Amino acid sequence: MKLFVTGGAGFIGSNFVHYWLKKHPEDSILNFDKLTYAGNLENLKDVETNPHYTFIQGDICDPEAVHRAMQGSDVVVHFAAESHVDRSILDPSLFVKTNVEGTAVLLNSALEHKVQRFHHISTDEVFGALPLNSELMFTEHTAYHPHSPYSASKAGSDHLVRAYFDTYGLPITISNCSNNYGPFHFPEKLFPLAITNLLEGKKVPVYGDGLYVRDWLYVEDHCRAIDCILSKGEIGKTYLIGGMSQDIPNVEIVKKILTLMGKDESSIEYVKDRPGHDRRYAVDWSMIHRELGWEPTESIDSGLAKTIEWFQTNESWWKRVKSGAYQEYYKKQYET
Ligand code: NAD
Ligand code: TYD
Repeated sequence: MKLFVTGGAGFIGSNFVHYWLKKHPEDSILNFDKLTYAGNLENLKDVETNPHYTFIQGDICDPEAVHRAMQGSDVVVHFAAESHVDRSILDPSLFVKTNVEGTAVLLNSALEHKVQRFHHISTDEVFGALPLNSELMFTEHTAYHPHSPYSASKAGSDHLVRAYFDTYGLPITISNCSNNYGPFHFPEKLFPLAITNLLEGKKVPVYGDGLYVRDWLYVEDHCRAIDCILSKGEIGKTYLIGGMSQDIPNVEIVKKILTLMGKDESSIEYVKDRPGHDRRYAVDWSMIHRELGWEPTESIDSGLAKTIEWFQTNESWWKRVKSGAYQEYYKKQYET
């Protein structure tokens, strides 16, 4: 099988490429990525000589480039997106362009090439926020109610993907996953920022009162869920993916990180809140469990321990990302 993966140089995409080449060595992957600030080919250093892996630098908003690159692909797995809520508050139009228009370009190309499957990676943030101290959870039936430009643009892309199934019969599946964490996580998101700040002797910024709740999932568990959907998922269907069985507020997760890294609470710095900050996310992942047999293998404690260890042993990776030096890698590797 030939997979056309968009955004494979980002956090989840690069974990997926590693996962897939290991789990399905007979398949081949074409990674189509624009290499924005979030795309880092150093994430894929150890697969770049694998004959089953190819990289093409390209923009999902460029119909001709997408059409050419998708030729001969069986399955599209679409990760590419602008993904950071804080950045979407600063520049919403880029999010509409990449996440909505880019997805439309891919859908048109997938139709023309008659791919067997178009799997769209989305987020639980499209559902908006849940109240604190409630039993409510997002399910496959929850109405969309996005609050940030990021989640609104992802919601737009989800609707388009479904419209291509309903209107043109494109064989699609969608997954809406909760917050991921793990290796290669860009250190502007909470976990990698906290871990790397502590490794640098700095404080961890906690937004507002710190009582915001996210549903955390170790990234490899997400990759396995996508594998389950690609192999056993029902065409036209949406699957919710999450990792938690209880609410843990941000500040409590930060305290877990502090304990695992031998630090105390003086390393917490409460900072200005994010505008429109969603209070609580919680995902009911019982449908994918029931229908496809998927469940997370890592708990938040085991996943955090693995993640901290990864950042401790990959100091040069995150130092280069934090300094911006990782962007030189592409030039050296591919532009000479
Ligand atoms: P990321 O920001 O780390 O990576 C995004 C990748 O897409 C980068 O490699 C970037 O270069 C590429 N890209 C951006 N614009 C592009 C364009 N126009 N053309 C081609 N490539 C482009 O993101 P991530 O955290 O790995 O998220 C991947 C996907 O998963 C996104 O669709 C996101 O909405 C979704 N998601 C993320 C999370 C999470 O916790 N990170 C949770 C649920 C869903
Ligand atoms: P983030 O990792 O940006 O993911 P998302 O906004 O997609 O959920 O943020 C996770 C939570 O952590 C969110 O409630 C905002 C909060 N947060 C902080 O408290 N401090 C930080 O420095 C960051 C980046 C996030």
